[in-house]
Amino acid sequence: MHFFFLLFLIFFFSINILRLTDFTDTIGNRVSGSHNLEMAIKYMYNALKQDGLDVYLEPVKIPHWIRGNESAEMVLPRAKRLAILGLSSSVATPPEGIEAEVLVVQSFEELKKRASEAQGKIVVFNQPFVSYGETVAYRLNGASEAAKLGAVATLIRSITPFSINSPHTGMQSYQNGVKQIPTACITLEDAELMQRMAQRGQKIVVRLTMDAKSLPAADSFNTVAEIKGWQHPEQVVLLSGHLDSWDVGQGAMDDGGGAMISWEALSLIRDLGLRPRRTLRTVLWTAEEQGGVGAQQYYDLHKVNISNFDLVMESDTGTFAPVALQFTGSGAARKVMEEVVKLLAPINTTKLEKHGEGTDISPWMQAGVPGASLHVADSRYFWFHHSEGDTMTVQNPRDMDLCSALWAVVAFVVGDLQDMLPR
Ligand SMILES: *[C@@H]1O[C@H](CO)[C@@H](O)[C@H](O)[C@H]1NC(C)=O
Ligand SMILES: *[C@@H]1O[C@H](CO)[C@@H](O)[C@H](O)[C@H]1NC(C)=O
Ligand SMILES: *[C@@H]1O[C@H](CO)[C@@H](O)[C@H](O)[C@H]1NC(C)=O
Ligand SMILES: [Zn+2]
Repeated sequence: MHFFFLLFLIFFFSINILRLTDFTDTIGNRVSGSHNLEMAIKYMYNALKQDGLDVYLEPVKIPHWIRGNESAEMVLPRAKRLAILGLSSSVATPPEGIEAEVLVVQSFEELKKRASEAQGKIVVFNQPFVSYGETVAYRLNGASEAAKLGAVATLIRSITPFSINSPHTGMQSYQNGVKQIPTACITLEDAELMQRMAQRGQKIVVRLTMDAKSLPAADSFNTVAEIKGWQHPEQVVLLSGHLDSWDVGQGAMDDGGGAMISWEALSLIRDLGLRPRRTLRTVLWTAEEQGGVGAQQYYDLHKVNISNFDLVMESDTGTFAPVALQFTGSGAARKVMEEVVKLLAPINTTKLEKHGEGTDISPWMQAGVPGASLHVADSRYFWFHHSEGDTMTVQNPRDMDLCSALWAVVAFVVGDLQDMLPR
C-alpha cells in the first residue's frame, strides 16, 4: 500500500516549509509584470529541475501595472494619514493629487439613492464584509460605478473581516466607456471612522496622490513539471497553485503554499520511486491575480486534448489544516473519489465535499473535466489576503505537510486507477 509510505515520508522528511521559506524570503512578493516574478519563475524552474522532474515553461503575455508612490491624508475635519493600497490597473492622480470632499456610502444602492451628491466627490465605500465572493464586487466595480455619477476618485474599504489598520489590495476593472478615476483601498478602521464623521454631519476632505501606471503587456510563463505516466503518458492529472502574488507581503499564503504542495506532491512520489499509469503534471500559474491570465491561456492552448485531462486540482485558499477535498464531477466520478479520500483516514481528511473551485481550474470544470480543490481551515485567510500581513509567519509546517499528504495521495491514486474518472 504505497500511500501509507507516502504519508509516512511526508511526516518525517517533508521539506515543504523549508522550500517555501527559501523561495519567499529570497524572491519576496512577485506581482504580474515585475522583475521579482521573472526571478520567481527562474527560481522554480531550476528548483524543479534539480529535484529531478521534467520541467518546461510555456510563454504567456501578462498585464504590467506599477503602483508607484501613493498616499492619502484626511484634511478635514482633522488631519490624519490614511493607509492605502492602490488597486491594480488604477490610473494616477495629477502629480499634485486630488483634494475633494468625501461621500461615504455603505452599498451600491445607497450610492444610487444619493447619486446627485457624488459629483466632484471622492466616494468612500464602507460596505460591510459579508463574504469574499459577495463583497469583492465593491473592489471590482466601485470605481466605475462612482465615476458614472461624476465622482473624481474612490476609496474602498478593504475586503476583509478583520484588520489591524491593514489595507488589502487586489484587482479592479474599469467598465468600457466609463471615465477611469483613481481608486485605492483603505482600512476597515478608516472607512468606519469616516462613516461616523459623516453621520455626525461633519465635512470630510481627503487628498489622494497616486502615480500608478500601466505598461505594455509583459512576457511571462506558466511553469510546468511532470512525472510521465508509464501506461498512458498522454493522460493527465493536473495539480496547481499560482506563482504570482500581489506586490505586498511575501505571497507565502496566497499562493506560495499552494504552489509548494503541488511541487511537494510530485517530489514525494518521485522520491518513493513511484510512477502512476498517467502523467502527473504540476502547473504553477502566472498572473492568477490579474484574473487567471496564465490559466486561461493554458486552457485555450491545451483544450484540444481535453479528453485526456482526467482531473484538474487547485490549491488557492491557503495551506492551513486540511478539512476536506472539494469535488466537481459526475455522480459516477464522485463515487470513485469517495473511495479515494477514504485512504486519507490516517490524517482525518476523508470528507468529499461538493463544488471544486478555483479561478485557474474553472475553465476545465466548466467544460466538464472533473475538478478538485483543497478545503482548508481558512477562517483567517482573508485576514492576511493581499496585504503586508501575507508572510511566512502565517504558515504552519505541520498544516502544510497535511495538505501535501492529501494532495499527493489524491493525485497518485487517481493517476494510477485502471480507468480515467467517468465524465
Ligand atoms: C517615489 O518618490 C520618491 C521620493 O519622492 C522618488 O525618489 C521615487 O523615484 C518615487 N518612485 C516612483 C516609482 O515614482
Ligand atoms: C495534445 O496531445 C498530443 C498527444 O499526447 C501531444 O502530442 C500534443 O502536444 C498535445 N497538444 C497540446 C497543445 O497540448
Ligand atoms: C485524527 O483524529 C484522531 C482522533 O480525533 C487524533 O487522535 C489524531 O491525532 C488525528 N490525526 C491527525 C493526523 O490529525
Ligand atoms: Zn491566490
